[in-house]
Amino acid sequence: MASQYCLVFITVIILFCSLSLNPSLAKTTKVHGLKMNVIDGCWRWNPNWRSHRQQLAICSIGFAGKMSNNIGKDVINYEVTDPSDNALDPKPGTLRYGATMIKGKKWITFQRDMKIKLEKPLLISSFTAIDGRGASVHIAGNACLRVFRATNVIIHGLRIHHCRSQPPTSVMGPDGIMSLGGVDGDAIRLVTASKVWIDHNTLYECEDGLLDVTRGSTNVTISNNWFRDQDKVMLLGHDDGYFRDKSMEVTVVYNHFGPNCNQRMPRIRHGYAHVVNNLYKEWSQYAIGGSMNPSVKSEANLFIAPKQNKEVTWRKDSNNFSWKFYSKGDIFENGASFIQSGVGGAKPHYNNQQSFKVVDAKSVRSLTRASGALTCTKKSRC
Ligand SMILES: *[C@@H]1O[C@H](CO)[C@@H](O)[C@H](O)[C@H]1NC(C)=O
Ligand SMILES: *[C@@H]1O[C@H](CO)[C@@H](O)[C@H](O)[C@H]1NC(C)=O
Repeated sequence: MASQYCLVFITVIILFCSLSLNPSLAKTTKVHGLKMNVIDGCWRWNPNWRSHRQQLAICSIGFAGKMSNNIGKDVINYEVTDPSDNALDPKPGTLRYGATMIKGKKWITFQRDMKIKLEKPLLISSFTAIDGRGASVHIAGNACLRVFRATNVIIHGLRIHHCRSQPPTSVMGPDGIMSLGGVDGDAIRLVTASKVWIDHNTLYECEDGLLDVTRGSTNVTISNNWFRDQDKVMLLGHDDGYFRDKSMEVTVVYNHFGPNCNQRMPRIRHGYAHVVNNLYKEWSQYAIGGSMNPSVKSEANLFIAPKQNKEVTWRKDSNNFSWKFYSKGDIFENGASFIQSGVGGAKPHYNNQQSFKVVDAKSVRSLTRASGALTCTKKSRC
């Protein structure tokens, strides 16, 4: 045991020295001269990221923890070569075949730029990483993504927009044809899902909302996304009567909201959200709100109020100030205000896989500058 500790100690010292002394490593927190946030700084410095795609998985922070179950020697690398879709009989080469049908761990990439119009909602099965880096991938114009009773899912680098409502239907699922209820038209919907990381996606102009976390989903991190041009942006918690969402825990970090976002950034029911280091360009009705006694810790965000409504928060039962809505280190511009309520602080209580250093809200503008799907050049950096 002692020798193991010794080895760990020496490794830490060597790492520390090389980081502080080696100038090429020391500048790794900048790409294109921009300072990066802790997620991006973990992989974007590497010009050889294409050969090390799995490096991304351990860069996650917040309630999803590290996505280390998505990587390893047993991962199947699957490339999407065909933008078509057949929801009942998915063809090899299509996104649906990879995301739904392949068993075990899979890492999905895209051969080239493509626009995928899904016939029906796409079910993403457990241990799936969808990695849009290196191609411009649009999922648009009809049905969109659903993570249903699945765990260990990464969704990275997609442009998802113009999602439309869907009637009740049948699709191919991981265990054969299954029936799905109708949906309102969200870009990404989580249903009884856990350990999900949604990073660097661009989401806009859908019929209902952009991102819904529902029916007992938990351990979710929503980071580096760009949400724009939407009425109802993000819903955490299924409905007021769904008490299982009391144990929902979601981290919302380094996202960019706006322009033209109206409400729900997020709207939360029952559970807990750590909303941290996000840029709020605008809202019309409210930015953060909820019902059913949720807890929100709003920490070191930058809120830029619109001309009219300056208040960030909204409570469904406006006379009930017993719930926890905390603001700590937020910056309020253009007259923005935040009505706090509740007692107890609403700390996230992260474990060491989940915890991260919250940055000063003054850096939020620059640390969210690369939000949304990244444009990665052919041979070099993202
Ligand atoms: C959520 O994550 C925590 C910490 O890793 C874990 O103890 C818990 O079982 C997870 N919950 C679910 C539903 O996966
Ligand atoms: C406020 O919410 C708490 C917790 O949900 C509840 O116990 C209480 O009755 C509510 N108060 C009012 C005035 O609605």
